[in-house]
Amino acid sequence: MALAELYCDASATTPPLPAVLEAMQAVYREAWANPSSLHGHGLAAAEMLERSRQRIGNALGAAADQLIVTSGATESVHLALLGTAARTSPARLVIGALEHPAVFAAADALRSQGWDVQIWPVGPDGHLRMDLLDAILEPPTRLVSLNWGQSEVGTLQPMLEIGDACRRRGIVCHTDATQLLSQARLDWNALPLDLLSGSAHKFQGPRGVGLLLFRHGVLQQPLFGGGGQQQGWRSGTEATALTAGMAEALDALPLHRPITGREAPAGVTPDLRPSRDRLLEQLLDREGVQLTGAGVDHRLPHHISLVVKDVSGGPISGRELVRQLARHGVAASSGSACSSGRSQDSPVLTAMDLPVSLRRSGLRLSLGPWLSADELESIPERFDAARAACT
Ligand SMILES: Cc1ncc(COP(=O)(O)O)c(C=O)c1O
Repeated sequence: MALAELYCDASATTPPLPAVLEAMQAVYREAWANPSSLHGHGLAAAEMLERSRQRIGNALGAAADQLIVTSGATESVHLALLGTAARTSPARLVIGALEHPAVFAAADALRSQGWDVQIWPVGPDGHLRMDLLDAILEPPTRLVSLNWGQSEVGTLQPMLEIGDACRRRGIVCHTDATQLLSQARLDWNALPLDLLSGSAHKFQGPRGVGLLLFRHGVLQQPLFGGGGQQQGWRSGTEATALTAGMAEALDALPLHRPITGREAPAGVTPDLRPSRDRLLEQLLDREGVQLTGAGVDHRLPHHISLVVKDVSGGPISGRELVRQLARHGVAASSGSACSSGRSQDSPVLTAMDLPVSLRRSGLRLSLGPWLSADELESIPERFDAARAACT
């Protein structure tokens, strides 16, 4: 029965917190009106919306007028890239080799407008090739968009160093922090970045709402027009309940060490990291199990990614292993949620140049505070049983 599964798929999405559901229900009960209306119902909704925006800004070290509430990171990424590139002559956009498909899609749209899109290659552990930094940021590079924490292999990128390098060259730098946000309190005003995208459902908020933080003067144009809400940056009647749910989820994040200034972003969640490290160690002790992505100090602190061979050393199907794990009570994923429905070589493992025979053998376990120590202890045994059942 699916509900008895140990949920180890936090990178796909996370269970909404009870406090988030309560906050949203309260809005639907008491502040359900259109926040643009001038009557009492509307004013109550506007007040609630403003309070939620302030809470989100406070949680991230940003002013409320540096925040655009969107439908999720897919929209945020498109607004960041297309909104920055609008009304300027085409130049060069740099994106990482391991970006989410939303970034590739937005880059394709810019390519069709005449932009030169350059892919920044990664090394075997998924880190951007920093030896290429100077060459890659040379003119006519005007816009850079990079994943801070990679969803399939967990690798963290040195976004502070890259942001600084962009700043020195007058290049606009966007980071897709969708995976990182569940693990780190960011201090937006101390970051050398111009745009930052996220999605509430990755940090136990509701699905269908996300955020874009932006520096004034960077965005040139919204994605679409309409009623001019959110200072014209995102038309459409505001999702007051979803915004309140996102604010609640951000406030409820356990107080992680904030990322400020030049601090390296590795290991920011002291509470999940020891359990993750222990589980990873137990799994890596098994023959035919290999880590993908960066080592423990340079990967998302709740994230494990592996390639797994079968008991006789042959390649295993990651999808089959995930199905067997579900039968043994573990909800996991074979890669990113977006690609795990299809049987194909993982584009991420391909870009990292893993052997062809292993590119369909990925397994991802991404943990959350809902898992107890005893539950985590039971995973290696369940893993063995699931692997043995793979044909
Ligand atoms: C790194 C990253 N960027 C963007 C997204 C897209 O988020 P959403 O589906 O909420 O729009 C995801 C979702 O998996 C992600 O992991």
